[in-house]
Amino acid sequence: MFKAVLFDLDGVITDTAEYHFLAWKKLGDELGISIDREFNEQLKGVSRTESLQRILASGGREHDFSAEEFDDLAKRKNDNYVEMIQDVSSNDVYPGILELLEELKEHGLKIALASASKNGPLLLDKMTLTDYFDVIADPAKVAEGKPAPDIFLAAAAGVGVNADEAIGIEDAQAGIQAIKAAGALPIGVGESDVLGNDISVVKDTSELTLDYLKKVWNKR
Ligand code: BG6
Ligand code: MG
Repeated sequence: MFKAVLFDLDGVITDTAEYHFLAWKKLGDELGISIDREFNEQLKGVSRTESLQRILASGGREHDFSAEEFDDLAKRKNDNYVEMIQDVSSNDVYPGILELLEELKEHGLKIALASASKNGPLLLDKMTLTDYFDVIADPAKVAEGKPAPDIFLAAAAGVGVNADEAIGIEDAQAGIQAIKAAGALPIGVGESDVLGNDISVVKDTSELTLDYLKKVWNKR
């Protein structure tokens, strides 16, 4: 049996993946770089600075900005994003997530956050979910962002388990890669076509019950 569940946040616990997309799209529009949903799949799970690098490269503008201007662009996106999430509340928690967190707690299973977002703690607070989490792995303290395994390894270590004793839940291609690289068992939220046919994927978070997680674990 697994001992911990390592949660991504944006697009798994709530719909903030959409706000990240909208905030990047707005910045892209201002820079004359179009960002569509297909390209956005390559941004999901990816850190703020790496996302901006990928966006500038896709528009052939990677050499157009000084380090200071680059930081200003990243800040502009984040300021816009933070404004968008001001009204996030417990009403915005995706279906089934609160019930899953409660089931995990009841069964003494550890709960960790493995989000690339520096806004993770703020969002958990806004959704009044902070108390469910035994640890929030700090993305500022890991060497490599997703798809590297670092944040999932930090999350597992934070709750005192080996990554191979944990399930990781992700909506991003980079995130699934990171979970696999860490040696944890991935469950995807979204479409198999996007996240891979070799892993278990749910279309809707309401499918994420403890029973479902156990089934996935037992057939791995
Ligand atoms: C991830 C999102 O969770 O966090 C990415 O999927 C985002 O879209 C990344 O870029 C970093 O988030 P933040 O809030 O630190 O800019
Ligand atoms: Mg995500």
